[in-house]
Amino acid sequence: MFRLLLRRLRPLSGPPGLLSVRSARSFSGCPPELSAAGIRSTFLDFFRQKHGHLLVPSSPVRPRGDPSLLFVNAGMNQFKPIFLGTVDPRSDMASYRRVVNSQKCVRAGGKHNDLEDVGRDVYHHTFFEMLGNWSFGDYFKEEACLMAWSLLTEHYGIPADRLYVSYFAGDAASGLTADEDTRQIWLDIGVPPSHLLPFGLKENFWEMGDSGPCGPCTEIHYDHVGGRDAASLVNADSPDVVEIWNLVFMQYNREVDNSLRLLPQFSVDTGMGLERLVSVLQGKRSNYDTDLFTPLIHDIHQRSRVGPYSGRMGAADHGKVDMAYRVVSDHIRTLSVCIADGVHPGMSGAELVLRRILRRAVRFCVEVLQAPQGALASLVPTVVHTLGDVYPELHREADRIMDVINENEDHFLSSLQQGSRLIHRTLNKMDYKHGVFPASVAWSLHRDLGFPLDLVDLILEEKGVQVDPQELDRLIAENHKVASGEQSGERSQVMLDILSLAELQRLAVPHTDDGLKYQYRLDQDRYSTRTDSHLHR
Ligand code: SER
Repeated sequence: MFRLLLRRLRPLSGPPGLLSVRSARSFSGCPPELSAAGIRSTFLDFFRQKHGHLLVPSSPVRPRGDPSLLFVNAGMNQFKPIFLGTVDPRSDMASYRRVVNSQKCVRAGGKHNDLEDVGRDVYHHTFFEMLGNWSFGDYFKEEACLMAWSLLTEHYGIPADRLYVSYFAGDAASGLTADEDTRQIWLDIGVPPSHLLPFGLKENFWEMGDSGPCGPCTEIHYDHVGGRDAASLVNADSPDVVEIWNLVFMQYNREVDNSLRLLPQFSVDTGMGLERLVSVLQGKRSNYDTDLFTPLIHDIHQRSRVGPYSGRMGAADHGKVDMAYRVVSDHIRTLSVCIADGVHPGMSGAELVLRRILRRAVRFCVEVLQAPQGALASLVPTVVHTLGDVYPELHREADRIMDVINENEDHFLSSLQQGSRLIHRTLNKMDYKHGVFPASVAWSLHRDLGFPLDLVDLILEEKGVQVDPQELDRLIAENHKVASGEQSGERSQVMLDILSLAELQRLAVPHTDDGLKYQYRLDQDRYSTRTDSHLHR
């Protein structure tokens, strides 16, 4: 039966036509004319035009009505009510069956936090774009795999022998069997068994949170080297073999008692990082060498007093100059997108994270790249130039973004001076014998003046003094609890049971019409229901 389905689906993909790059080359990366913008629009057009998906705009990076998130960190976030079965049946979202989008994502706080990796490696970012397609009770595993394979190998022209596919191996302790359906689908598509790899819960069972929709996933990985057996490098943190696309099959609901129940409706949720895909298609090992970043790196060099970017890492990167290029080019994108969406540098939650990002960027700009004050904000037009066509709010908000960055930079640079003075005063007063600097002073410098802790360490290192590490960890942990809302009860939310909702729908229980509650008038000091004629105009 599955083979019949394959035959039925194949014509849907048709011959490669959205991008006429496949025939134009032997694969050695990608032709230069294949820009990030072209790669993004090919993805969206493939699902929209060839496979009948509705194009839904990216949501802002500030999550709406979801206190469990600091920032939007995956394409599926805005569709969470559909998965949970809590979507208002009168809303547009309730009619979504096949959807495609390119979502602005920030992973700089909370569960997904890549901030510390940024600049140290060449493939983590605080801001990235997630390309995704969704089926809400429409197609399932077969069609999702077929479309993904067709797009990658036929339309983008990636050689199949560079691709490895992982699938869920099952987990006896959870009573979950291996996802043999998916394995068979990939075999039928033509993936050789040597490129088809089983992995456990951690890698191949995707969960939205501690409870809620979840299911096995299948991931497509790319080997940048090729011409070898790279199976052992899949999911092994190798920069040469990277995951590019995650296809999640939402089949279960994780109950609060940790048990799994089958969902009334099966869905598909996929996500592919645009920056990684572009590096694959442009034949670059580093995301910073793609056209999403090279204009920024060029402009940073113009404003700096150091040599050009040369892609060095670790000990070879003397003075952390190349790391500074990577950090500044990453952070200016994040700052621009967040400020455009109304997240401003501030004192708690996402705002505090953004303040740290801004201050980290300023420090690298001023201290390492030796750029003048104002250099950071002057990069905003380049961000607008590379991203503004897809996210038009960047065009609209460009002046405001620059003002916010400049004001905050100004304030931070004077805090830096104040902070350095306070450290030196404390050092003069303290007993040097123990060589331990009070964590409370370091922490208040960081919290109140936004003085980076690593800068405190650097200044103290020169004096042979160290911040009390245990006490500092304790203060950080305490602050983390407050920032994540654990003490305020912010996280406790009434979550309607998805299966109970499905049962109500099955029994055709009508949706509550709460329209009347908005139809009232205030007569002197009394509210009454408005039944007068002007309500019904
Ligand atoms: N939600 C999945 C992820 O974030 C697939 O999009 O990887």
